[in-house]
Amino acid sequence: MARCLVTGATGYIGGRLVPELLAAGHEVRCMARSPERLRDLPWRERTEVVKADAADASQVLAALEDIDVAYYLIHTMGGSRHFAHQDRQAAEVFATAARLAGVRRIVYLGGLAPRERLPVMTTPRWVASLTQPIAVRDVLRYLTAWASVPGEINRAFDIGGPDVLTYADMMREYAAVAGLPSRVIIPVRALTPRLSSLWVGLVTPVPSRIARPLVESLRNNAVCAEHDIAAHVPDPDGGLISFRDAVRLALKKIKEADVATRWSSASTPDAPSDPLPTDPGWAGGSLYIDRRAIRVRASPESLWQVIESIGGDNGWYSLPTAWRLRGLLDRLVGGVGLRRGRRDPNRLRVGDAIDFWRVEDVIPGRLLRLRAEMRLPGLAWLELSVSRSDAGTVYRQRAIFHPHGLAGHLYWWAVSPFHGLIFGRMPLNVAAAAARREVRRPGRS
Ligand SMILES: NC(=O)c1ccc[n+]([C@@H]2O[C@H](COP(=O)([O-])OP(=O)(O)OC[C@H]3O[C@@H](n4cnc5c(N)ncnc54)[C@H](OP(=O)(O)O)[C@@H]3O)[C@@H](O)[C@H]2O)c1
Repeated sequence: MARCLVTGATGYIGGRLVPELLAAGHEVRCMARSPERLRDLPWRERTEVVKADAADASQVLAALEDIDVAYYLIHTMGGSRHFAHQDRQAAEVFATAARLAGVRRIVYLGGLAPRERLPVMTTPRWVASLTQPIAVRDVLRYLTAWASVPGEINRAFDIGGPDVLTYADMMREYAAVAGLPSRVIIPVRALTPRLSSLWVGLVTPVPSRIARPLVESLRNNAVCAEHDIAAHVPDPDGGLISFRDAVRLALKKIKEADVATRWSSASTPDAPSDPLPTDPGWAGGSLYIDRRAIRVRASPESLWQVIESIGGDNGWYSLPTAWRLRGLLDRLVGGVGLRRGRRDPNRLRVGDAIDFWRVEDVIPGRLLRLRAEMRLPGLAWLELSVSRSDAGTVYRQRAIFHPHGLAGHLYWWAVSPFHGLIFGRMPLNVAAAAARREVRRPGRS
């Protein structure tokens, strides 16, 4: 058993690695700039969390105290124009602190360094560049195993999946697995990495400032030159996961609408490729999330009563005309509209219909998750929850949308201004309704 420090625990890889290390019997300390972002994670109580910024040598040194293996899973890519310089500086601070603290090993996950460079770029050459994608659960298998590998093995290893593909192949494979119509790929000479990244920023949730360095890196082939790691971490019986299976696994949970179940589930996720709360919105499938939270001057019980009775004749606590219009539009395109109302004005069960939603999960007193059954170019959920903090009762609300194709992305952007109004007002009105209910509660004035 090793004492491990996981940096970047709020990130995509770090957030998935923590439960894997715990399951393997290691002790885990997480380093985060904002520890509160880890508060609701199912594994939080089984880890120690320290607050530290990688650029602050004394904070990093404190975080590394008594640590055997430190996972360096930090990058600031796209954070600013000087991210490469900042990343290098933070890595140097960390390496120096680790040496001072007597850390046995640092595990760093990088990208495959190109062995060749294209002398001239004539077309958007990157769609023909070769790459060797690896499933995140295979990456996690290697990272987890590395906590137990003898300290004298100290070098870089190439890791990659079993398929070597062009990016064009990957797009076609993805479309096939996702059940999308087959894609025709037309090379456009004018599509430089800069223009490509602007396009990516427009039609996907990946911001173009993050897309830019990614697209830039696609110009080079990224293929493993060796598979020496197998001598220390043997390949699993069926071999590494193929690209097709990795996409299938990643899409499966979203297709089954299990995505949100995982986020609030109290159990440790069993499949590290499931979308997790720590994933950036754009990882593991495109997700747009509108988050709201407000402190409520009422007890959690009163707030829950308001949440549990939402919809139907009780309404949606914001812009009733806009909701009616949305219902009407839904009926015009063959959807159910708002006509279903509610089975019971105050109580809910999983499976109940509420207007154009379906109750997907109810944790009494804590959480209501609704899955949209209106006609949409994607999947949508509305999640309303109650939590207690030192400051009192807190109402949280998340509207989540998983777009299907370009139409889905365009839909989300088109309705965003309306969402701003509708979802912005809901928390205020729900909080006010809970406060009114509180006053009416027996024993209150
Ligand atoms: N994801 C991939 O497919 C992939 C592939 C190859 C290599 N990698 C490498 O794996 C590592 C992790 O990637 P990821 O996808 O998990 O990244 P990510 O989701 O963007 O997470 C980055 C993490 O870095 C933390 N961070 C940034 N600046 C920090 C600072 N100054 N001090 C402390 N923490 C800081 C962030 O914390 P905050 O929450 O505070 O911002 C976040 O937890 C990176 O080095 C990346 O290059 C990733």
